[in-house]
Amino acid sequence: MSSRPAQHPVGIIGGTGLTTLSGLEITGERSVDTDWGQPSAPLVEGRLGDQPVIFLARHGNPHRIPPHQVNYRANLRALYDAGVRTVVGVNAVGGIHQDMGPAHVVVPDQIIDYTWGRPSTFFEGELEHVTHIDFTWPYDADARRILIEAAASRKTTISDFGVYGATQGPRLETAAEIRRMERDGCDLVGMTGMPEAVLAAELGMRYACLGLVVNWAAGKSDHIITMEEIEAAIDQGMSSVKGMLEASMAG
Ligand code: HPA
Repeated sequence: MSSRPAQHPVGIIGGTGLTTLSGLEITGERSVDTDWGQPSAPLVEGRLGDQPVIFLARHGNPHRIPPHQVNYRANLRALYDAGVRTVVGVNAVGGIHQDMGPAHVVVPDQIIDYTWGRPSTFFEGELEHVTHIDFTWPYDADARRILIEAAASRKTTISDFGVYGATQGPRLETAAEIRRMERDGCDLVGMTGMPEAVLAAELGMRYACLGLVVNWAAGKSDHIITMEEIEAAIDQGMSSVKGMLEASMAG
């Protein structure tokens, strides 16, 4: 994140398969509170190379909070209060696009939000005026570019585009739902991409998604989705994700 605003730590929100970040030289851990409640886990402060980093386990550590019950507002606000202005959200996703199979890494460029009932704005309650933020480009161009360049520097083959379809979960989708999402233009399906991205945008933070495909989406292979398949793809692909994170913090 070499063009990050000076001195601000970079926030990394780790999802399924990334509850802790090996390689992070930990300098502290803080349990914090926000006006929106408590984040999923203590903030882990450290350095990745020369870059100060704050790591937050999206589903808690150990992994116990399902996607629809994550307090996304508290997570983003806690990072913001800790000085973070650039966030990388690491998300396990299902692959819909034919080139995005298990263990493939994607830096998506668009979102379609199918979630419902999640608190998904800071702009509610006792307001002085109504705010509608622009969300045309949900991911920050600079943060995306740095991740994409990090992949190139490590010769890791990734996809530098993709539409992330955010579903409610915690169940996986039906084959017909995935067919509909494909018609809508989705390349990936995941349960945690929203409202995380929009809340970062509301706070004026730069946000990018690093998606690790952990299974073919429902109906995209000849078998049902199993935890064994997901765990194998995490084992295979998470080293690319970690390597990209490390490379993106260098320089
Ligand atoms: N669907 C939704 N979320 C997911 C999937 C999926 O197939 N895989 C990982 N997260």
